[in-house]
Amino acid sequence: MSSSSLQLLLITLTTSLLLSNATNDHPNKNLPSSMDRIELETLFKIMETLSSDQDWRVSYPNPCQPGSSWPGIECKYTPMDNHFHVTRLDFGTPPNPSCKNTAKFPSEIFQLPHLESIFVFQCFTEAPTRISVPPNKPLMSRLQQLSFRSNSALIGTIPPQISSLKSLQILTLSQNKLTGEIPVEIFSLSSLVHLDLSYNLLSGAIPLEVGNVRSLVGLDLSYNRLMGQIPSAIGELRILQKLDLSSNSLTGSVPESIQHLQSLVFLALSNNNLRGSFPRGLTGLQNLQYFLMDDNPMFVPLPEELGRLKKLQELRLANSGYSGTIPPSYSQLTNLSTLSLQNNRLSGQIPVGLANLSHIYHLNLSRNFLDGVVPFNSSFLKRLGKNLDLSGNLRLCLSPSAGNSVNVGVGVCGSSKTSSLITPVRKSEAPLKCSILFIVNIALVILTLVYTSFCG
Ligand SMILES: *[C@@H]1O[C@H](CO)[C@@H](O)[C@H](O)[C@H]1NC(C)=O
Ligand SMILES: *[C@@H]1O[C@H](CO)[C@@H](O)[C@H](O)[C@H]1NC(C)=O
Ligand SMILES: *[C@@H]1O[C@H](CO)[C@@H](O)[C@H](O)[C@H]1NC(C)=O
Ligand SMILES: *[C@@H]1O[C@H](CO)[C@@H](O)[C@H](O)[C@H]1NC(C)=O
Repeated sequence: MSSSSLQLLLITLTTSLLLSNATNDHPNKNLPSSMDRIELETLFKIMETLSSDQDWRVSYPNPCQPGSSWPGIECKYTPMDNHFHVTRLDFGTPPNPSCKNTAKFPSEIFQLPHLESIFVFQCFTEAPTRISVPPNKPLMSRLQQLSFRSNSALIGTIPPQISSLKSLQILTLSQNKLTGEIPVEIFSLSSLVHLDLSYNLLSGAIPLEVGNVRSLVGLDLSYNRLMGQIPSAIGELRILQKLDLSSNSLTGSVPESIQHLQSLVFLALSNNNLRGSFPRGLTGLQNLQYFLMDDNPMFVPLPEELGRLKKLQELRLANSGYSGTIPPSYSQLTNLSTLSLQNNRLSGQIPVGLANLSHIYHLNLSRNFLDGVVPFNSSFLKRLGKNLDLSGNLRLCLSPSAGNSVNVGVGVCGSSKTSSLITPVRKSEAPLKCSILFIVNIALVILTLVYTSFCG
């Protein structure tokens, strides 16, 4: 940047600072009624519904007054009507006002005509309360961001009337105790950019209407009780960058339409009941960096095509019944840092090329049926150290030159057969073996009891 353009930038910055100060400064600082009276009264009601930190009417009679404004509040001075208006409210954690035990959902927030954002964090924790939006009233709300997070006593359903908040861009209702189905009306919010309903108790299917919100960039419905198939309409979300549907009870296969999500960077489908076949179109996701799909009953071969997702940094496909060999194409994933393939039915040798993955930091291939000589040299083994796990592959062994440097869960090739076949019981395997023995033992006791009671 040249010095003259730097100067220009500085001048612009200073003037904009001065200007913003000017707009914040009320011309008549001593005038107490610098807020619209109805708006002020609504604000006091909201404060009293949520907080008992102090008597707000007494301690802060002019909540927007510069220099003596409330904590957790932002206001804007509008010259047009010579008033201050509340634009942002923050509750729950210091320095913002904390919530009282009997705090209730403050439905008056929808009557603050200039409110743009509200954040309520760890506020409702004692007395159960529900989201309520005044019904059948055209809301004049300018609310762009509505965030109620980590409220263990926020129960009930998401009211369909939430769709009357037409300006909403970010809706976060994560980590509450919300139940019922996701109201389809949410998907008529045509300005919505981020929707996060994760960590609740939501049930039912993902509505087909999800495809209507073309503006959506982030969709997180993880950790709920959603069932049914992933709707094909999800492929309509062309600018989606993050899709997290993990830890639900989704069934069926991943829809082919997912290939249209060309902007997708993060895709998590772990811990569902998804089955093969694998969507061919997945290779269209050329911007994908995170693909997390552990814990699904897939029971198909590992798709070779994943090796074409060049930007992948994390690939997690553990515990999903994958069979066949590890595709050599995976060694082309040059930016891969985590590869999790443990607890599958993979067989054959580890592809030589995996040793070329220069960014790999965490590699778990444990509990498969891999065999042959591990293709990693001692410097690779040392670099990954404890983050490399090859245990539970009984016919896998280390070349003598690489072996003995670190414990990765396999023996050195050519050492006596018994020692490589009967690998020492590793700590992680001991509980499993012991619990099997325990069950067998119990069964024997029961049989003995049955025997003695009938025949004894
Ligand atoms: C790998 O990561 C680096 C650094 O984040 C990035 O510059 C590069 O473009 C990435 N390569 C691919 C193929 O995505
Ligand atoms: C590993 O990388 C080297 C150097 O880039 C290359 O010559 C070799 O073919 C690669 N090996 C495999 C199996 O991809
Ligand atoms: C180990 O293997 C890597 C990758 O194939 C290679 O770059 C490196 O030079 C090797 N190191 C030794 C000590 O052989
Ligand atoms: C690899 O996966 C197994 C099985 O899930 C797990 O017990 C082990 O801790 C993992 N190892 C590493 C290094 O992450």
